[in-house]
Amino acid sequence: MEIKWLGHSALMLIGSKIVLIDPFLTGNPKAAVTAESIKKCDMVVVTHDHGDHIGDAYDICKRTGAVFVSFFEIALAAEEKGITAEQMSVGGTIENSGIKVSMVPAFHSGGLGGTAVGVVVEMDGKKVYHAGDTGVSMEMQLTGELYEPDIAFLPIDGRFNMTPRLAAKAVELLKVPKAVPIHYDTFPAIISSPEEFKKFVGNMSEIIIMNPGDKIEL
Ligand code: NI
Ligand code: MN
Repeated sequence: MEIKWLGHSALMLIGSKIVLIDPFLTGNPKAAVTAESIKKCDMVVVTHDHGDHIGDAYDICKRTGAVFVSFFEIALAAEEKGITAEQMSVGGTIENSGIKVSMVPAFHSGGLGGTAVGVVVEMDGKKVYHAGDTGVSMEMQLTGELYEPDIAFLPIDGRFNMTPRLAAKAVELLKVPKAVPIHYDTFPAIISSPEEFKKFVGNMSEIIIMNPGDKIEL
């Protein structure tokens, strides 16, 4: 599987299928691609309905026919717009087109449902944990134990999410072999330091600092 960071919290997983997570592209000053440039997509996964996460999700689903996956209230809102959706919530795992999505806890707010979640997406035998927006929590230890992700994408902005120090604690709890800092430097209010995060993690895990548009092979 290849993983492309599209900037902020937006990921594109490229394997036997194409999966987008939190595709905030329009209005994202760090977006690596435009929403319109995405012609093919099988699934869009959304962690919560803040604009910097739900972003272009509905439009991309309408245009490409991708299935929309989120927790109950947001999936319902998508269905009301005529989009095919998978409803689920924390603790559940759904499978659609050979892709498995498990929903895990996050500590954050949201509009619909009032909350936010993290997700573990499994495709082609590889598991990607996207933390959404969240603080650090002991639940991350369980997420690591129960889903054994191969890589974690963690928000490190230090204002709406974990500081680099706390994100390093998340890596320790998850016991994840690789992690990538995201959700920083998009706007002046969320300037943070991926290098500091890497320093705090030390030799606990491989930290990969990406630039928007970069791809890694998992
Ligand atoms: Ni948020
Ligand atoms: Mn956010």
